[in-house]
Amino acid sequence: MTKTSSSPEAILLVGGKGTRLRPLTMNTPKPMVPAAGVPFLTHQLARARAAGVEHIVLATSYLAEVFEPYFGDGSALGLHLEYVTEEEPLGTGGAIRNVASRLHSGPDDPVLIFNGDILTGLDIEALVHTHRTANADVSLHLTRVEDPRAFGLVPTDATGRVTAFLEKPQTPEEIVTDQINAGAYVFNRSVIDSIPADRPVSVERETFPGLLAAGAHLQGMVDSTYWLDLGTPQAFVRGSADLVLGRAPSPAVPGRCGDRLVLDTADVAPDAKLTGGTVVGAGARVEPGARVDGSTVLDGAVVEAGAQIRDSLVGAGARIGARTVLDGAVIGDRAHVGADNELRAGARIWCEARIPAGTIRFSSDQ
Ligand code: GDD
Ligand code: MG
Repeated sequence: MTKTSSSPEAILLVGGKGTRLRPLTMNTPKPMVPAAGVPFLTHQLARARAAGVEHIVLATSYLAEVFEPYFGDGSALGLHLEYVTEEEPLGTGGAIRNVASRLHSGPDDPVLIFNGDILTGLDIEALVHTHRTANADVSLHLTRVEDPRAFGLVPTDATGRVTAFLEKPQTPEEIVTDQINAGAYVFNRSVIDSIPADRPVSVERETFPGLLAAGAHLQGMVDSTYWLDLGTPQAFVRGSADLVLGRAPSPAVPGRCGDRLVLDTADVAPDAKLTGGTVVGAGARVEPGARVDGSTVLDGAVVEAGAQIRDSLVGAGARIGARTVLDGAVIGDRAHVGADNELRAGARIWCEARIPAGTIRFSSDQ
């Protein structure tokens, strides 16, 4: 296969350990949970395609068997997709090295690498351009966040060259910048081949610090486009709503952007109120007088009359009883929450659980 310099290949990292969404969506790995009506991964694949990428290798480990039946060879998205499954999770660097044999790129060609849980408006072509202009070994998309502790800190000099990489800083002294690794890279192919094979390697804790110590050129590209790590259910709900609202750009949102996205076979009562980027999945039902704001109601779920739902995820086939209030809650697949309950502030209902009517109230006792 030939490959032009204007269309780099990409690796998408979608493995690793289970996620916090896992007990709530049973056998669906996070990249396959629908965001704005399609498996989240579709947005990343479609954005890469729109930036000219044609060949993408998915590096998977956890629940790998669900990706290929859905995305197949990628032709529906105009892509050529390949899948590589690790027997044991190899870490981010190990996963990258493990798919090297599937790349067609030459040693000096740029290869894009994406964390599989990021929703962003990153200008992918600009990152490749930065990489070429700087003549870097690796280039990283960086973003600024208020609290960088859950991320990889990446200070740069005045020219954007990376001076250190500090993954998940532990002490206040380590917090030297608010610039973090946004989880999108360009690697020269030869750098990928230099990662040790057949053992777990963390690109954040081993590869980047090692390259810096050896004098390699790591270039950072800071920008302020939309960026969200979907690592928590709350972030996932936010991301889905932002896709629907058009704040997070994706060519894969089915339908026009707006206040709501109601999939074809959903049944929404005329006086139900759907706002704030709410998604109602296929075959789901929202009954009269219900209000759903900034939330994701997955396929086949039922929201009964007068229920009020905000910033919440209602799993596939779940049922929310009449007048029940959800705010910042996550309801697992096929769980039933009876009428007249109130679940707020991070409440999590496991898959298939049953909460009888009138059982839970939330009160600050003020
Ligand atoms: N194939 C494979 N194998 N993929 C993996 C493995 C593995 O063993 N481990 C992690 N991944 C994938 C995850 O599926 C995810 O898409 C990506 O690599 C990053 O892993 P996370 O577990 O989500 O890491 P994080 O969010 O704590 O931190 C990473 O992302 C931050 C930005 O969101 C780091 O790269 C940080 O430096 C960065 O700031
Ligand atoms: Mg993450």
